[in-house]
Amino acid sequence: MDATALEGEARAAIAAAADVDALEELRVRYLGRKSPLKLALREVRDRETGMALNAARAAIEDALATREHELAAAAQAELEPFDVTLPGERSQRGRLHLITQTRREIEDVFLGLGYRVFDGPEVDTVHNNFTALNTPEAHPSRDPQDTFYVDENTVLRTHTSPGQIRSMLEQEPPVYVVSLGRAYRRDTPDPTHTPTFHQVECLAVDRGIRLSDLRGTVEYFFRALFGQEREVRMRTSFFPFTEPSVEFDVTCFLCGGGGCSVCKHSGWIEMGGAGMVDPAVFEGVGYDPELWTGFAFGFGIERIAMLRHGFPDLRLLWENDLRFARQF
Ligand code: PHE
Repeated sequence: MDATALEGEARAAIAAAADVDALEELRVRYLGRKSPLKLALREVRDRETGMALNAARAAIEDALATREHELAAAAQAELEPFDVTLPGERSQRGRLHLITQTRREIEDVFLGLGYRVFDGPEVDTVHNNFTALNTPEAHPSRDPQDTFYVDENTVLRTHTSPGQIRSMLEQEPPVYVVSLGRAYRRDTPDPTHTPTFHQVECLAVDRGIRLSDLRGTVEYFFRALFGQEREVRMRTSFFPFTEPSVEFDVTCFLCGGGGCSVCKHSGWIEMGGAGMVDPAVFEGVGYDPELWTGFAFGFGIERIAMLRHGFPDLRLLWENDLRFARQF
């Protein structure tokens, strides 16, 4: 056999091999056990032929190795270049809704003062929502125009104050509870009203509790939430279940009391209702009003969040627009 011709043919075929499979076929064809070269090598009788065949085998092995390298390099080059030092892609993380965040911060303030967190149902009896809270039969807040009735005796609670009744029925005084949750009123949505909203209700009942304790507690609460330089003031008000009743204001945290659009140029921001628990409410739950006194307040959580973060419309809290939600 002509070793040189065979080598030439093999090298040409190997150089043209398109992929590793084709190359493997050529390896078998030219160097396999039954290849003409291997068969010829087995038959060799003289030194000269042996050297020529071995040289051809070495040359074909070389050509195979070279082509294998080339194919591997080409495959590598086809892959996207990859820079291992590039920063990774940030994965999207969820977060707590601003109302939930605010709820938890408020809870923390009261847990720190030794209060118990109390949770009442959002669907409650007319008795707990109104009657036990000393609200007269003819009181306008009972009107179906203002209140969602489930049936004659059941409402979506219009405030968190029925929690006062439930927590007092559940335990003997002294009572220190805070209750945060949803309430419902038939309000047309506008920048400061939504039909569903949240309140924080606080109730403290003990021997010798006075109005100054209410004031001090609210001041502590507002300073914890809005900053140590806040001042509070009380204005007289009326609620059927407190006597006396007050409304709390806090100095505007935007202007510090000087007057701006947030506080409508008064320097003060209205925070919500409060008062000393009416003796009639104590009698209803079997507490002796001669022995026990207490205070309660109920403030809107949306309002707290809105004023704290300075956004203009609390409906934003319900729209779940991520561009808004992501900011907190
Ligand atoms: N429940 C009252 C309201 O919704 C607020 C309040 C709570 C007033 C506790 C006095 C005592 O407006």
